[in-house]
Amino acid sequence: MCEVLIERLDHFGRGIGYINKKIVFVNNALPNELVKINIIAEHSKYYVGQVEKYLNKSTHRLKAKCPYYHICGGCNLQHLSYEDTILFKKNKIENIFARANLNLPNMEIIKNESPYFYRNKLSVQIVDSQVGFYEENSHKLVAISNCLLAKKSIQDFLKNVWKLNIQNGSLTIRSNYNDELLIVINTKDNVTFEPNLFPNCKIVGVILNNRTIYGTSYFYERIDDFLFKVSYDAFFQVNPYVTKHLFSLLKQYITTTGNVLDLYSGVGTLGIIAAQKAHHVYSIEIIKNAILDNLENKKLNKCYNVDAFLGSAEKILNKISLEFETIIIDPPRKGLDQQALNIILNSQAKQIIYISCDPMTLVRDLKKLTLKYNLEKYYLLDMFSYTYHVESFCLLKLK
Ligand SMILES: C[S@@+](CC[C@H](N)C(=O)[O-])C[C@H]1O[C@@H](n2cnc3c(N)ncnc32)[C@H](O)[C@@H]1O
Repeated sequence: MCEVLIERLDHFGRGIGYINKKIVFVNNALPNELVKINIIAEHSKYYVGQVEKYLNKSTHRLKAKCPYYHICGGCNLQHLSYEDTILFKKNKIENIFARANLNLPNMEIIKNESPYFYRNKLSVQIVDSQVGFYEENSHKLVAISNCLLAKKSIQDFLKNVWKLNIQNGSLTIRSNYNDELLIVINTKDNVTFEPNLFPNCKIVGVILNNRTIYGTSYFYERIDDFLFKVSYDAFFQVNPYVTKHLFSLLKQYITTTGNVLDLYSGVGTLGIIAAQKAHHVYSIEIIKNAILDNLENKKLNKCYNVDAFLGSAEKILNKISLEFETIIIDPPRKGLDQQALNIILNSQAKQIIYISCDPMTLVRDLKKLTLKYNLEKYYLLDMFSYTYHVESFCLLKLK
């Protein structure tokens, strides 16, 4: 055991200290705390430590609301006030941009009006009939009966998952604006679904191993005046409160009357918003059901100037030779495919809106995009409150 003074937080919310000049990462330790730790892993360049005793606690430390907080690993910042989690995220972004030697414009921050009970999707594991999450980087189950980040409608179902009699498998619960639920089950067990067993849950569909065994395989999500069909396997932003602000930003910056490219389009949300002003929108998405949803969504929202292409961004971009005034990029965590990035760099589009859920791949891509574009606006959106994750909205203009 040794004593360590925590100096700052890393990008994952872990405390950073030093033992004989070698860095040590300590979970649940805050700057200025003096902690007694056990070394639980030793690598050539760093240690990983676990707190045994707090010798001096930070004035910023709060008691986490969730009883599973210190074992579950789903949240990382519940021992801070909400304001401090925002400060952590601001510092994290400033640090990532500075390290990449990228100029960060004046940052605007969009907070989450519901920092708990916001998630509209929750995935859990079931091991030997126990429901929970895997501990980070392991297959050890932490059994839970509640998650404070999830919407109440999801929490209500979670308490009743045992009634499905699943012994081993996984389950995703999705909830929409109307608290309707889609239940997606993957298991080798024999599952039959009986809606009467869940009298207080508005279950509209149950999908077992990609086959609908009850109701529908989709539901409708509403954000402001827009209605979107969302299939069980299609992406939708997990936080409807912050998504509303994301859509407002998009409305603000799509002033273009030319063509818009909506890359990584999901069920077509961003393209449909852009279509209110644009001449024509071309969406590209790799999941078939999401493209089919997009085709229905354009009708639902009376946007007939949207076309949707099924396939990978890189492949489809190679095939279409159109000019775009605005390119919207909203990729998964791994960021832009590098082939797609090169095509975008040669496109002469007047502006790029890059929405990202991983600042590391964002700056990697911005390093290249800023060779031809100026980064004019940066917004931090607190889409994933009490976790270390950050959503970014960037506006780039052709130089
Ligand atoms: C972060 S989501 C954004 C979805 C959508 N823009 C929205 O706001 O709902 C990323 C999307 O990219 C899709 N995707 C992943 N890899 C892709 C690829 N290589 N080409 C096209 N789409 C891809 C995923 O299926 C997912 O729908």
